[in-house]
Amino acid sequence: MFITFEGIEGCGKSTQVNYLVDGLENLGVSVFSTFEPGGTKVGQGIRRILLDSQNRNLSPLAELLLYAADRAQHVEEVLKPVLAQGKWVVCDRYLDATLAYQGYARGQEIGFIKALNQRVSRGIQPDITFLIDCPVSVGIKRALDRNKAMQEEGQDRFEREREEFHNSVRKGYLAMAEEEPERFVVVDGTFEEKALAGVIFDHIRPFLSPEDCGGG
Ligand code: TYD
Repeated sequence: MFITFEGIEGCGKSTQVNYLVDGLENLGVSVFSTFEPGGTKVGQGIRRILLDSQNRNLSPLAELLLYAADRAQHVEEVLKPVLAQGKWVVCDRYLDATLAYQGYARGQEIGFIKALNQRVSRGIQPDITFLIDCPVSVGIKRALDRNKAMQEEGQDRFEREREEFHNSVRKGYLAMAEEEPERFVVVDGTFEEKALAGVIFDHIRPFLSPEDCGGG
């Protein structure tokens, strides 16, 4: 079972990934939690380049190819082998993020991104994708508060983007969710976090078999 989480900055993805992973582990499910960009050692290096606010002149195509490189490594080194072991995998961002950010928001050609995604994902597609939707103003405020709490200096390359950019990301995600309603579950990121974790878990419950919970 492969579950991905998507949404704009500060939508609460990472918090919800943690709730879901804890909830699954409590039921005895063998679950592996990972993320993009940076889910491998090679990917950590790529992530640093991508998020470094000094890299103002990173070209849109170079950016796209770096995300694709990160994903190619992550699929080969982590996703394929872990899924092959029959484990559940929860991943914070995957293919849809590239379509939303580099495609819908950054204006790179959607057909090219889809082809690239297909090539690097090697047929590994999410079974369910939770899109945590929230207004851009809410997400940005949370992302900035989080930076302050972590005493991180300034903002990363994406948090510096204009509100319009994040609105395009949000619209892109919502358009994709509409195109693929059987895979996407859109949830409200303005919900109180524990209540939202409950909503998310309710969607997962029907997929749990006794074998998954160590009972088979
Ligand atoms: P992430 O670590 O999920 O950051 P956050 O928790 O702040 O949302 O993602 C880092 C940034 O990378 C984020 O701004 C979204 C961006 N991103 C893309 O632009 N394209 C992609 O394919 C992926 C995976 C992420």
